[in-house]
Amino acid sequence: MITEKFVLTPFQQNTRVVVCEETSTAICIDPGEDSAEIDAFVNENDFHLQAITLTHGHFDHIGGTSAPRKRFPQAEILLHKDDEDFYYGLPEQPLFMGIPRHQLKILGFEYEQPPRLTRNWKDGEIYAVGNLRFKILHCPGHTRGHIVMAEETEKAVFVGDCLFEGSIGRTDLPGGNFDQLINSINTRILTLGDDFTVYSGHGSETTTGREKATNPFLTGVYEMTQGRYI
Ligand SMILES: [Fe+2]
Repeated sequence: MITEKFVLTPFQQNTRVVVCEETSTAICIDPGEDSAEIDAFVNENDFHLQAITLTHGHFDHIGGTSAPRKRFPQAEILLHKDDEDFYYGLPEQPLFMGIPRHQLKILGFEYEQPPRLTRNWKDGEIYAVGNLRFKILHCPGHTRGHIVMAEETEKAVFVGDCLFEGSIGRTDLPGGNFDQLINSINTRILTLGDDFTVYSGHGSETTTGREKATNPFLTGVYEMTQGRYI
């Protein structure tokens, strides 16, 4: 498995291209914004972009969905149904997140209507990318329809904004729920085992074991607080 990270948007969001080395089949997880770098990485390496896979519907994770869909028309687009309202409401989403309309263009948050989703994730499904097998786990709490993608053989889990190095996703936005997020992390992510590399939607990579031992939101140091990112 190859993972390539592209840090995009003013929110320093981690867009990733993940590739099955044996078959050159690739997916783009959470394209935060249009990026020529991503196109070049896919094209110069002759990868086949099978899909744009979305962990959740926040604009800093879906803002770059339109452009690759045009350049890689074969790529399917997948999102959980409970985040469809965010997805199809993309042009208006920055406004209800508190960004003034006159700043949308300057900040790069002026969006066109995104392309239709190909289909919705189903909790528990196994999604094949070449020889890689991703288990899709519904993890509500940061948003209602957040999912994570776990690759058992590679010991890798792509967690979007559920879990960060030393922190967790914020839960004060529409659909957020602190107790639900902690429950999702404890019952669906940490139960994968202590040796999984955690690929988060912002910040550095970490491991399930390290977060279980040291993340103050999971060790009980903070009983109730809010995360840092949208
Ligand atoms: Fe988010």
